[in-house]
Amino acid sequence: MDNRPIGFLDSGVGGLTVVRELMRQLPHEEVVYIGDSARAPYGPRSAEQIREFTWELVRFLLTKDVKMIVFACNTATAVAWKEVKEALDIPVLGVVLPGASAAIKASQTGKIGVLGTPMTIQSDIYQQKIQALSPEMKVENLACPKFVPLVESNNYQSSLAKKVVYETLGSIRGKVDTVILGCTHYPLLRPIIQNVMGKDVKLIDSGAECARDISVLLNYFEINRSRTTESLHHTFYTTASPAAFREIAESWLDMDITVEHVTL
Ligand code: DGL
Repeated sequence: MDNRPIGFLDSGVGGLTVVRELMRQLPHEEVVYIGDSARAPYGPRSAEQIREFTWELVRFLLTKDVKMIVFACNTATAVAWKEVKEALDIPVLGVVLPGASAAIKASQTGKIGVLGTPMTIQSDIYQQKIQALSPEMKVENLACPKFVPLVESNNYQSSLAKKVVYETLGSIRGKVDTVILGCTHYPLLRPIIQNVMGKDVKLIDSGAECARDISVLLNYFEINRSRTTESLHHTFYTTASPAAFREIAESWLDMDITVEHVTL
């Protein structure tokens, strides 16, 4: 047993899609979340800068005495997960591998689309992981640089969002039977993406798949939180406006939360 919280990091609000699944699947676990909305999006930045920012988020979470760190960000996973994992003595989980495995399982035609930020697509991490597991799979990569700003600005249900998603996905529509939402912000656009891709296309939420792996690791290391009556105190930190973060977070998580501003 270990009653310390699990730490989540993301460039902004996207990692909340992982937290929502965590809370659904493991409601006894406590969460500390840091979103770097002041510097989002990370996707168009250089690998060096993403690495530097990710380490700042990791160091912040370590000051909160977390028992595990979840990279609830594909871009940070693509760039810095391996080195952080090797440097820390607590488990560090990324979102890419769970999403890749789930897509292999879901695809009937062996044609998988990957939507991600410019850095995630440039790193080619999904294609590498998918083909390492299952070499005959065909992967269509597509960078969607306009998606994260739509979510961070709370415009993810707008008519602008519909237009942008429609225009962006044109090149893979009809070519794949499974699409990985390879950015944790994208599940907020899921209804629109599903509508544009067609109802028969399977959408894989890499963050949701990751929540199951968190459970496996907690069991493996025997660090689940004890099911005491002691109440949970989830804490959320943002580098930008707490009010803007709270608005998106409360609607997505369907609960009242407190958000604190932090300067890294
Ligand atoms: N949620 C991050 C991801 O999964 C978004 C990165 C960004 O800020 O561009 O990649």
